[in-house]
Amino acid sequence: MEEMRRNFPENFLWGGAIAASQAEGAFNADGRGLSVGDVVPYNKGLNRKEINHHKNISNEVIALAIQDSSAANYPKRYGIDFYHHYKEDIALFAEMGFKVFRFSISWSRIFPQGDELLPNEAGLVFYGKVFAELEKYGIEPLVTISHFDMPLYLVEEYGGWLNRKLIDFYMRYAKVLFTRYPKVKYWITFNEINASVFSTFKGVGLLKDRSAHFEQECFQAVHHQFVASALAVQLGHELIPGSQIGCMIARFTTYAATSKPEDVMQMLHDDQYRNFFFTDVQTRGYYPSYMDRYFAEHDIQLTLQQGDVEILRAGAVDYVSFSYYMSMISSADPEHLEQTAGNLVGGIKNPHLQASDWGWQIDPVGLRYTLNQLYDRYQKPLFIVENGVGALDQLDEHGNVHDEYRMDYFREHIRQMKEAILDGVDLLGYTIWSAIDIVSSSTSEMSKRYGFIYVDQNDDGSGTLNRLKKDSFYWYQKVIESNGEDLG
Ligand code: BG6
Repeated sequence: MEEMRRNFPENFLWGGAIAASQAEGAFNADGRGLSVGDVVPYNKGLNRKEINHHKNISNEVIALAIQDSSAANYPKRYGIDFYHHYKEDIALFAEMGFKVFRFSISWSRIFPQGDELLPNEAGLVFYGKVFAELEKYGIEPLVTISHFDMPLYLVEEYGGWLNRKLIDFYMRYAKVLFTRYPKVKYWITFNEINASVFSTFKGVGLLKDRSAHFEQECFQAVHHQFVASALAVQLGHELIPGSQIGCMIARFTTYAATSKPEDVMQMLHDDQYRNFFFTDVQTRGYYPSYMDRYFAEHDIQLTLQQGDVEILRAGAVDYVSFSYYMSMISSADPEHLEQTAGNLVGGIKNPHLQASDWGWQIDPVGLRYTLNQLYDRYQKPLFIVENGVGALDQLDEHGNVHDEYRMDYFREHIRQMKEAILDGVDLLGYTIWSAIDIVSSSTSEMSKRYGFIYVDQNDDGSGTLNRLKKDSFYWYQKVIESNGEDLG
Protein backbone atom coordinates (compact mmCIF):
# COMPACT_ATOMS: atom_id res chain seq x y z
CA MET A 1 0.00 0.00 0.00
CA GLU A 2 1.20 3.48 -0.85
CA GLU A 3 2.15 5.67 2.11
CA MET A 4 -0.55 8.17 3.08
CA ARG A 5 -0.07 11.59 1.48
CA ARG A 6 0.51 14.11 4.28
CA ASN A 7 1.14 17.39 2.66
CA PHE A 8 1.52 19.27 -0.58
CA PRO A 9 4.08 17.30 -2.59
CA GLU A 10 7.51 18.90 -2.88
CA ASN A 11 7.13 19.57 -6.59
CA PHE A 12 3.62 21.00 -6.22
CA LEU A 13 2.97 23.59 -8.92
CA TRP A 14 1.82 26.80 -7.22
CA GLY A 15 1.01 29.67 -9.52
CA GLY A 16 -1.59 31.80 -11.21
CA ALA A 17 -3.48 32.07 -14.47
CA ILE A 18 -4.68 34.55 -17.08
CA ALA A 19 -6.24 34.32 -20.54
CA ALA A 20 -5.11 36.12 -23.69
CA SER A 21 -8.48 37.67 -24.51
CA GLN A 22 -8.77 39.25 -21.07
CA ALA A 23 -5.16 40.32 -20.54
CA GLU A 24 -3.15 40.84 -23.69
CA GLY A 25 -4.92 43.75 -25.37
CA ALA A 26 -3.07 44.90 -28.52
CA PHE A 27 -6.01 43.50 -30.45
CA ASN A 28 -4.80 44.75 -33.81
CA ALA A 29 -1.03 44.73 -33.27
CA ASP A 30 1.41 42.82 -35.48
CA GLY A 31 -1.17 41.22 -37.73
CA ARG A 32 -3.57 39.84 -35.12
CA GLY A 33 -7.14 39.25 -36.33
CA LEU A 34 -10.34 39.88 -34.37
CA SER A 35 -11.46 37.16 -32.00
CA VAL A 36 -14.84 36.39 -30.45
CA GLY A 37 -13.79 38.10 -27.21
CA ASP A 38 -13.21 41.37 -29.06
CA VAL A 39 -16.89 41.76 -29.90
CA VAL A 40 -18.36 41.07 -26.46
CA PRO A 41 -19.44 44.51 -25.21
CA TYR A 42 -19.22 45.97 -21.73
CA ASN A 43 -22.69 46.62 -20.44
CA LYS A 44 -22.61 49.92 -18.54
CA GLY A 45 -25.90 49.50 -16.75
CA LEU A 46 -24.59 46.30 -15.23
CA ASN A 47 -26.51 44.66 -12.42
CA ARG A 48 -23.73 42.79 -10.63
CA LYS A 49 -25.99 40.08 -9.28
CA GLU A 50 -27.77 39.41 -12.53
CA ILE A 51 -28.20 35.66 -12.89
CA ASN A 52 -26.61 35.29 -16.27
CA HIS A 53 -24.42 37.90 -17.88
CA HIS A 54 -24.00 35.77 -20.96
CA LYS A 55 -26.68 37.43 -22.97
CA ASN A 56 -26.93 35.91 -26.34
CA ILE A 57 -24.62 37.65 -28.75
CA SER A 58 -26.60 38.31 -31.94
CA ASN A 59 -25.80 39.27 -35.52
CA GLU A 60 -26.55 42.90 -34.61
CA VAL A 61 -24.19 42.87 -31.63
CA ILE A 62 -21.36 41.61 -33.84
CA ALA A 63 -22.13 44.10 -36.60
CA LEU A 64 -21.98 46.99 -34.11
CA ALA A 65 -18.75 45.74 -32.63
CA ILE A 66 -17.02 45.56 -35.98
CA GLN A 67 -17.52 49.31 -36.42
CA ASP A 68 -16.51 50.31 -32.88
CA SER A 69 -13.17 49.60 -31.28
CA SER A 70 -13.42 51.89 -28.25
CA ALA A 71 -11.94 50.73 -24.96
CA ALA A 72 -15.06 51.93 -23.13
CA ASN A 73 -17.28 49.55 -25.10
CA TYR A 74 -14.90 46.68 -25.86
CA PRO A 75 -12.42 46.42 -22.96
CA LYS A 76 -11.21 42.95 -23.96
CA ARG A 77 -9.51 44.42 -27.00
CA TYR A 78 -7.22 46.33 -24.66
CA GLY A 79 -7.01 43.93 -21.72
CA ILE A 80 -4.35 45.13 -19.28
CA ASP A 81 -1.89 45.39 -22.15
CA PHE A 82 0.01 42.29 -21.07
CA TYR A 83 1.30 42.31 -24.66
CA HIS A 84 3.57 45.21 -23.78
CA HIS A 85 3.89 44.60 -20.01
CA TYR A 86 4.67 40.87 -19.98
CA LYS A 87 8.23 41.36 -18.71
CA GLU A 88 7.14 43.48 -15.77
CA ASP A 89 4.24 41.13 -15.00
CA ILE A 90 6.31 37.95 -15.17
CA ALA A 91 8.93 39.56 -12.90
CA LEU A 92 6.13 40.15 -10.35
CA PHE A 93 4.94 36.54 -10.69
CA ALA A 94 8.51 35.40 -10.09
CA GLU A 95 8.72 37.64 -7.01
CA MET A 96 5.58 35.94 -5.67
CA GLY A 97 7.40 32.64 -6.19
CA PHE A 98 5.25 31.19 -8.98
CA LYS A 99 6.33 27.71 -10.04
CA VAL A 100 3.84 27.70 -12.90
CA PHE A 101 2.07 30.31 -14.97
CA ARG A 102 -1.06 29.39 -16.92
CA PHE A 103 -1.88 31.55 -19.93
CA SER A 104 -3.54 31.06 -23.27
CA ILE A 105 -2.32 31.72 -26.75
CA SER A 106 -4.47 34.00 -28.85
CA TRP A 107 -5.45 31.88 -31.84
CA SER A 108 -6.06 34.95 -34.01
CA ARG A 109 -2.55 36.23 -33.23
CA ILE A 110 -1.15 33.07 -34.83
CA PHE A 111 -3.80 32.57 -37.53
CA PRO A 112 -5.58 35.94 -37.88
CA GLN A 113 -8.54 34.50 -39.78
CA GLY A 114 -8.09 30.94 -38.64
CA ASP A 115 -8.09 29.28 -42.06
CA GLU A 116 -4.70 30.42 -43.40
CA LEU A 117 -2.11 27.86 -44.41
CA LEU A 118 0.78 29.69 -42.80
CA PRO A 119 0.99 31.25 -39.35
CA ASN A 120 1.65 34.88 -38.52
CA GLU A 121 5.33 34.96 -37.57
CA ALA A 122 5.00 38.11 -35.44
CA GLY A 123 2.50 36.34 -33.18
CA LEU A 124 4.81 33.38 -32.73
CA VAL A 125 7.72 35.68 -31.91
CA PHE A 126 5.68 37.32 -29.15
CA TYR A 127 4.96 34.03 -27.36
CA GLY A 128 8.56 32.96 -27.89
CA LYS A 129 9.55 35.99 -25.84
CA VAL A 130 7.01 35.16 -23.14
CA PHE A 131 8.38 31.60 -22.86
CA ALA A 132 11.95 32.91 -22.71
CA GLU A 133 11.01 35.27 -19.90
CA LEU A 134 9.35 32.46 -17.93
CA GLU A 135 12.39 30.25 -18.44
CA LYS A 136 14.62 33.01 -17.09
CA TYR A 137 12.80 32.71 -13.75
CA GLY A 138 12.36 28.94 -13.85
CA ILE A 139 8.57 29.24 -14.14
CA GLU A 140 6.87 26.30 -15.85
CA PRO A 141 4.38 27.39 -18.52
CA LEU A 142 0.93 25.82 -18.66
CA VAL A 143 -0.58 26.69 -22.01
CA THR A 144 -4.26 26.74 -22.91
CA ILE A 145 -4.50 26.34 -26.68
CA SER A 146 -7.99 27.82 -26.92
CA HIS A 147 -9.49 29.99 -24.20
CA PHE A 148 -12.68 31.70 -25.40
CA ASP A 149 -11.04 33.57 -28.28
CA MET A 150 -11.42 31.73 -31.57
CA PRO A 151 -10.89 33.95 -34.62
CA LEU A 152 -14.11 35.83 -35.37
CA TYR A 153 -13.71 35.00 -39.06
CA LEU A 154 -14.28 31.33 -38.29
CA VAL A 155 -17.65 32.27 -36.81
CA GLU A 156 -18.62 34.55 -39.66
CA GLU A 157 -17.42 32.43 -42.57
CA TYR A 158 -17.69 28.90 -41.27
CA GLY A 159 -20.37 29.02 -38.56
CA GLY A 160 -18.02 28.23 -35.69
CA TRP A 161 -17.38 24.74 -34.32
CA LEU A 162 -20.57 23.40 -35.85
CA ASN A 163 -18.49 23.15 -39.00
CA ARG A 164 -16.20 20.10 -39.02
CA LYS A 165 -13.54 22.06 -40.90
CA LEU A 166 -12.75 23.73 -37.58
CA ILE A 167 -11.03 20.51 -36.52
CA ASP A 168 -8.48 20.93 -39.34
CA PHE A 169 -7.93 24.60 -38.58
CA TYR A 170 -7.45 23.90 -34.89
CA MET A 171 -5.04 21.06 -35.66
CA ARG A 172 -2.99 23.27 -37.96
CA TYR A 173 -2.80 25.80 -35.14
CA ALA A 174 -1.97 23.19 -32.49
CA LYS A 175 0.74 21.68 -34.70
CA VAL A 176 2.39 25.06 -35.07
CA LEU A 177 2.39 25.50 -31.29
CA PHE A 178 3.76 22.01 -30.54
CA THR A 179 6.45 22.41 -33.19
CA ARG A 180 7.45 25.91 -32.28
CA TYR A 181 7.41 25.50 -28.47
CA PRO A 182 8.70 21.98 -27.83
CA LYS A 183 9.88 22.82 -24.30
CA VAL A 184 6.34 23.30 -23.03
CA LYS A 185 5.33 20.26 -21.02
CA TYR A 186 1.83 21.16 -19.76
CA TRP A 187 -1.02 21.90 -22.19
CA ILE A 188 -4.79 22.26 -22.00
CA THR A 189 -6.68 21.74 -25.26
CA PHE A 190 -9.82 23.84 -24.54
CA ASN A 191 -10.72 26.10 -21.66
CA GLU A 192 -13.98 25.08 -19.94
CA ILE A 193 -15.16 22.85 -22.76
CA ASN A 194 -18.63 22.70 -21.15
CA ALA A 195 -19.04 26.38 -22.10
CA SER A 196 -20.03 24.88 -25.44
CA VAL A 197 -23.44 24.38 -23.89
CA PHE A 198 -23.53 27.18 -21.31
CA SER A 199 -21.82 30.07 -23.05
CA THR A 200 -21.99 29.11 -26.66
CA PHE A 201 -20.64 32.16 -28.44
CA LYS A 202 -17.31 32.26 -26.67
CA GLY A 203 -17.19 28.47 -26.30
CA VAL A 204 -17.99 27.23 -29.80
CA GLY A 205 -18.84 30.36 -31.81
CA LEU A 206 -22.56 29.61 -32.10
CA LEU A 207 -25.30 32.22 -32.26
CA LYS A 208 -28.83 31.34 -31.25
CA ASP A 209 -30.39 33.63 -33.83
CA ARG A 210 -28.60 31.76 -36.61
CA SER A 211 -29.81 28.36 -35.55
CA ALA A 212 -32.79 26.10 -36.16
CA HIS A 213 -32.11 23.50 -33.46
CA PHE A 214 -29.72 25.22 -31.10
CA GLU A 215 -29.13 22.45 -28.57
CA GLN A 216 -28.39 19.92 -31.28
CA GLU A 217 -25.88 22.34 -32.81
CA CYS A 218 -24.15 22.92 -29.46
CA PHE A 219 -23.62 19.19 -28.95
CA GLN A 220 -22.48 18.71 -32.54
CA ALA A 221 -20.02 21.59 -32.09
CA VAL A 222 -18.65 20.13 -28.88
CA HIS A 223 -18.30 16.75 -30.58
CA HIS A 224 -15.97 18.47 -33.04
CA GLN A 225 -14.04 19.95 -30.12
CA PHE A 226 -13.77 16.50 -28.51
CA VAL A 227 -12.33 15.11 -31.74
CA ALA A 228 -9.95 18.08 -32.09
CA SER A 229 -8.84 17.69 -28.48
CA ALA A 230 -8.23 13.96 -28.88
CA LEU A 231 -6.22 14.53 -32.07
CA ALA A 232 -4.23 17.26 -30.32
CA VAL A 233 -3.44 14.92 -27.42
CA GLN A 234 -2.04 12.37 -29.86
CA LEU A 235 -0.11 14.92 -31.88
CA GLY A 236 1.28 16.58 -28.75
CA HIS A 237 2.53 13.26 -27.43
CA GLU A 238 4.16 12.52 -30.78
CA LEU A 239 5.84 15.91 -31.19
CA ILE A 240 6.71 16.52 -27.53
CA PRO A 241 7.49 13.22 -25.84
CA GLY A 242 6.63 13.40 -22.15
CA SER A 243 4.17 16.25 -22.61
CA GLN A 244 1.13 16.28 -20.33
CA ILE A 245 -2.08 17.30 -22.05
CA GLY A 246 -5.24 17.88 -20.09
CA CYS A 247 -8.92 18.60 -20.49
CA MET A 248 -10.61 21.41 -18.61
CA ILE A 249 -14.17 22.12 -17.48
CA ALA A 250 -15.95 24.78 -15.47
CA ARG A 251 -16.78 22.62 -12.53
CA PHE A 252 -20.38 23.09 -11.36
CA THR A 253 -20.30 21.15 -8.12
CA THR A 254 -23.86 20.57 -7.01
CA TYR A 255 -25.76 19.38 -3.92
CA ALA A 256 -29.31 18.07 -3.59
CA ALA A 257 -31.64 20.76 -2.22
CA THR A 258 -33.12 18.23 0.22
CA SER A 259 -32.84 14.52 1.02
CA LYS A 260 -35.90 13.89 -1.16
CA PRO A 261 -34.90 11.10 -3.59
CA GLU A 262 -36.13 13.22 -6.53
CA ASP A 263 -33.74 16.01 -5.57
CA VAL A 264 -30.88 13.55 -5.27
CA MET A 265 -31.73 12.16 -8.69
CA GLN A 266 -31.73 15.70 -10.09
CA MET A 267 -28.29 16.23 -8.53
CA LEU A 268 -27.03 13.13 -10.34
CA HIS A 269 -28.41 14.38 -13.65
CA ASP A 270 -27.03 17.88 -13.21
CA ASP A 271 -23.63 16.41 -12.45
CA GLN A 272 -23.81 14.17 -15.51
CA TYR A 273 -25.06 16.75 -18.00
CA ARG A 274 -23.08 19.74 -16.76
CA ASN A 275 -19.83 18.15 -15.62
CA PHE A 276 -19.20 14.47 -16.16
CA PHE A 277 -20.30 14.22 -19.79
CA PHE A 278 -17.38 16.42 -20.78
CA THR A 279 -14.70 14.89 -18.56
CA ASP A 280 -15.97 11.35 -19.21
CA VAL A 281 -15.52 11.69 -22.97
CA GLN A 282 -12.12 13.29 -22.70
CA THR A 283 -10.76 11.11 -19.91
CA ARG A 284 -12.26 7.71 -20.67
CA GLY A 285 -12.28 8.25 -24.43
CA TYR A 286 -15.90 7.41 -25.19
CA TYR A 287 -19.42 8.81 -24.86
CA PRO A 288 -21.11 7.78 -21.59
CA SER A 289 -24.30 5.73 -21.96
CA TYR A 290 -26.38 8.13 -19.81
CA MET A 291 -26.22 10.64 -22.68
CA ASP A 292 -28.14 8.31 -25.03
CA ARG A 293 -31.35 8.96 -23.17
CA TYR A 294 -30.64 12.69 -22.90
CA PHE A 295 -30.03 12.96 -26.64
CA ALA A 296 -33.17 10.93 -27.44
CA GLU A 297 -35.36 13.01 -25.15
CA HIS A 298 -34.00 16.27 -26.54
CA ASP A 299 -34.26 15.18 -30.14
CA ILE A 300 -30.52 15.43 -30.64
CA GLN A 301 -28.87 13.36 -33.34
CA LEU A 302 -25.13 13.67 -33.50
CA THR A 303 -23.23 13.06 -36.71
CA LEU A 304 -20.11 11.06 -36.03
CA GLN A 305 -17.72 10.34 -38.87
CA GLN A 306 -16.08 7.01 -39.39
CA GLY A 307 -12.99 6.93 -37.22
CA ASP A 308 -14.26 9.36 -34.56
CA VAL A 309 -14.80 6.64 -31.98
CA GLU A 310 -11.21 5.44 -32.41
CA ILE A 311 -9.85 8.99 -32.29
CA LEU A 312 -11.62 9.68 -28.99
CA ARG A 313 -10.29 6.45 -27.52
CA ALA A 314 -6.73 7.12 -28.59
CA GLY A 315 -6.82 10.73 -27.40
CA ALA A 316 -7.72 10.40 -23.74
CA VAL A 317 -6.08 13.13 -21.68
CA ASP A 318 -3.21 12.78 -19.20
CA TYR A 319 -4.78 14.84 -16.43
CA VAL A 320 -8.06 16.48 -15.56
CA SER A 321 -8.12 20.20 -14.89
CA PHE A 322 -10.98 22.43 -13.90
CA SER A 323 -12.02 25.85 -12.66
CA TYR A 324 -13.75 25.99 -9.32
CA TYR A 325 -15.37 29.17 -8.05
CA MET A 326 -18.57 28.14 -6.33
CA SER A 327 -21.12 25.37 -5.85
CA MET A 328 -24.74 24.98 -6.84
CA ILE A 329 -27.99 23.31 -5.75
CA SER A 330 -30.10 20.76 -7.60
CA SER A 331 -33.82 20.47 -7.12
CA ALA A 332 -36.56 18.52 -8.86
CA ASP A 333 -38.85 21.45 -8.18
CA PRO A 334 -36.73 24.60 -8.56
CA GLU A 335 -39.43 27.12 -9.53
CA HIS A 336 -40.12 28.61 -6.11
CA LEU A 337 -36.55 28.58 -4.83
CA GLU A 338 -34.45 31.74 -4.62
CA GLN A 339 -31.88 32.08 -7.42
CA THR A 340 -28.38 33.47 -7.48
CA ALA A 341 -25.66 34.10 -10.06
CA GLY A 342 -22.68 31.90 -10.80
CA ASN A 343 -19.92 31.18 -13.27
CA LEU A 344 -21.42 30.75 -16.77
CA VAL A 345 -24.80 29.77 -15.28
CA GLY A 346 -26.92 30.82 -12.34
CA GLY A 347 -28.69 28.52 -9.93
CA ILE A 348 -30.53 28.01 -6.68
CA LYS A 349 -29.30 29.85 -3.62
CA ASN A 350 -27.71 27.79 -0.85
CA PRO A 351 -28.73 29.22 2.57
CA HIS A 352 -25.57 27.79 4.17
CA LEU A 353 -23.12 29.72 2.01
CA GLN A 354 -21.91 33.30 1.66
CA ALA A 355 -21.67 34.78 -1.80
CA SER A 356 -19.30 37.19 -3.56
CA ASP A 357 -20.34 40.70 -4.63
CA TRP A 358 -21.45 39.06 -7.88
CA GLY A 359 -23.59 36.47 -6.11
CA TRP A 360 -21.28 33.47 -6.69
CA GLN A 361 -21.62 31.11 -3.72
CA ILE A 362 -18.36 30.58 -1.87
CA ASP A 363 -17.80 26.97 -0.87
CA PRO A 364 -14.31 25.77 0.09
CA VAL A 365 -15.53 22.36 1.34
CA GLY A 366 -17.08 21.85 -2.08
CA LEU A 367 -13.56 21.94 -3.50
CA ARG A 368 -12.50 18.99 -1.34
CA TYR A 369 -15.66 17.16 -2.35
CA THR A 370 -14.95 17.89 -6.04
CA LEU A 371 -11.36 16.73 -5.85
CA ASN A 372 -12.40 13.47 -4.21
CA GLN A 373 -15.20 12.90 -6.68
CA LEU A 374 -13.02 13.50 -9.74
CA TYR A 375 -10.11 11.45 -8.47
CA ASP A 376 -12.35 8.53 -7.51
CA ARG A 377 -13.91 8.59 -10.95
CA TYR A 378 -10.84 8.92 -13.14
CA GLN A 379 -7.77 7.98 -11.09
CA LYS A 380 -5.79 10.53 -13.06
CA PRO A 381 -3.88 13.50 -11.69
CA LEU A 382 -5.95 16.63 -11.16
CA PHE A 383 -4.99 20.27 -11.66
CA ILE A 384 -6.99 23.20 -10.26
CA VAL A 385 -6.34 25.76 -12.96
CA GLU A 386 -8.75 28.48 -11.82
CA ASN A 387 -10.02 29.37 -8.36
CA GLY A 388 -10.61 32.82 -6.97
CA VAL A 389 -13.03 35.55 -6.04
CA GLY A 390 -14.03 38.62 -8.01
CA ALA A 391 -14.18 41.62 -5.68
CA LEU A 392 -14.46 45.41 -5.67
CA ASP A 393 -11.00 46.36 -4.41
CA GLN A 394 -10.34 49.81 -2.96
CA LEU A 395 -7.00 51.60 -3.03
CA ASP A 396 -6.17 53.44 0.21
CA GLU A 397 -4.41 56.82 0.25
CA HIS A 398 -1.00 55.12 0.07
CA GLY A 399 -1.94 53.08 -2.95
CA ASN A 400 -2.40 49.83 -1.02
CA VAL A 401 -5.20 47.29 -1.29
CA HIS A 402 -6.07 45.52 1.97
CA ASP A 403 -7.85 42.53 0.49
CA GLU A 404 -8.42 40.33 3.57
CA TYR A 405 -11.55 38.92 1.92
CA ARG A 406 -9.40 37.52 -0.89
CA MET A 407 -6.88 35.98 1.52
CA ASP A 408 -9.78 34.45 3.50
CA TYR A 409 -11.19 32.92 0.34
CA PHE A 410 -7.88 31.38 -0.69
CA ARG A 411 -6.89 30.30 2.83
CA GLU A 412 -10.04 28.23 3.18
CA HIS A 413 -9.77 26.74 -0.29
CA ILE A 414 -6.11 25.81 0.20
CA ARG A 415 -7.00 24.17 3.55
CA GLN A 416 -9.54 22.03 1.75
CA MET A 417 -7.05 21.18 -0.99
CA LYS A 418 -4.74 19.90 1.70
CA GLU A 419 -7.57 17.82 3.17
CA ALA A 420 -8.16 16.33 -0.27
CA ILE A 421 -4.48 15.45 -0.56
CA LEU A 422 -4.77 13.68 2.81
CA ASP A 423 -7.82 11.92 1.36
CA GLY A 424 -5.44 10.49 -1.24
CA VAL A 425 -6.05 12.80 -4.19
CA ASP A 426 -3.19 13.23 -6.65
CA LEU A 427 -3.10 16.99 -7.20
CA LEU A 428 -0.50 18.37 -9.58
CA GLY A 429 -0.92 22.06 -8.97
CA TYR A 430 -2.96 25.15 -8.37
CA THR A 431 -3.12 28.24 -10.55
CA ILE A 432 -5.24 30.88 -8.88
CA TRP A 433 -7.50 33.14 -10.90
CA SER A 434 -6.15 35.52 -11.69
CA ALA A 435 -2.45 36.12 -11.36
CA ILE A 436 -3.09 39.82 -11.91
CA ASP A 437 -6.27 41.90 -12.38
CA ILE A 438 -7.67 41.43 -15.89
CA VAL A 439 -10.90 42.20 -17.73
CA SER A 440 -13.80 40.00 -16.59
CA SER A 441 -14.83 37.30 -19.02
CA SER A 442 -18.57 37.47 -18.32
CA THR A 443 -19.07 41.18 -17.79
CA SER A 444 -16.09 42.70 -19.66
CA GLU A 445 -15.59 45.06 -16.71
CA MET A 446 -12.36 45.85 -14.89
CA SER A 447 -13.98 46.39 -11.47
CA LYS A 448 -14.43 42.67 -10.96
CA ARG A 449 -10.90 42.10 -9.72
CA TYR A 450 -9.38 38.71 -9.01
CA GLY A 451 -5.64 39.38 -8.91
CA PHE A 452 -2.91 39.62 -6.28
CA ILE A 453 -1.59 42.51 -8.36
CA TYR A 454 -3.75 45.60 -8.81
CA VAL A 455 -3.83 47.19 -12.25
CA ASP A 456 -4.67 50.87 -12.31
CA GLN A 457 -7.34 50.80 -14.97
CA ASN A 458 -11.02 51.67 -14.89
CA ASP A 459 -13.97 50.08 -16.65
CA ASP A 460 -13.80 52.67 -19.44
CA GLY A 461 -10.13 51.90 -20.11
CA SER A 462 -8.75 55.04 -18.44
CA GLY A 463 -5.87 54.73 -15.95
CA THR A 464 -2.08 54.54 -15.82
CA LEU A 465 -1.89 50.73 -16.15
CA ASN A 466 0.52 50.80 -13.20
CA ARG A 467 0.87 47.51 -11.37
CA LEU A 468 0.60 47.57 -7.53
CA LYS A 469 1.06 44.72 -5.08
CA LYS A 470 -2.03 44.02 -2.98
CA ASP A 471 -1.70 42.63 0.56
CA SER A 472 -2.61 39.24 -0.90
CA PHE A 473 0.56 39.40 -3.03
CA TYR A 474 2.75 39.07 0.09
CA TRP A 475 0.40 36.51 1.60
CA TYR A 476 0.59 34.20 -1.44
CA GLN A 477 4.36 34.65 -1.53
CA LYS A 478 4.51 33.11 1.98
CA VAL A 479 2.09 30.35 1.02
CA ILE A 480 4.31 29.32 -1.87
CA GLU A 481 7.53 29.72 0.08
CA SER A 482 6.22 27.41 2.81
CA ASN A 483 4.67 24.99 0.28
CA GLY A 484 1.20 25.61 1.66
CA GLU A 485 2.13 25.41 5.36
CA ASP A 486 1.98 29.10 6.24
CA LEU A 487 -1.55 30.24 5.46
CA GLY A 488 -1.24 33.37 7.61
C1 BG6 B 1 -13.90 31.19 -16.11
C2 BG6 B 1 -13.07 31.58 -17.30
O1 BG6 B 1 -15.17 30.90 -16.59
O2 BG6 B 1 -14.13 32.11 -15.11
C3 BG6 B 1 -12.25 32.83 -17.14
O3 BG6 B 1 -12.26 30.51 -17.73
C4 BG6 B 1 -13.03 33.84 -16.33
O4 BG6 B 1 -11.87 33.27 -18.40
C5 BG6 B 1 -13.32 33.27 -14.96
O5 BG6 B 1 -12.42 35.08 -16.22
C6 BG6 B 1 -14.03 34.22 -14.03
O6 BG6 B 1 -15.17 34.70 -14.66
P1 BG6 B 1 -15.49 36.25 -14.77
O7 BG6 B 1 -16.66 36.30 -15.64
O8 BG6 B 1 -15.74 36.70 -13.39
O9 BG6 B 1 -14.27 36.89 -15.37
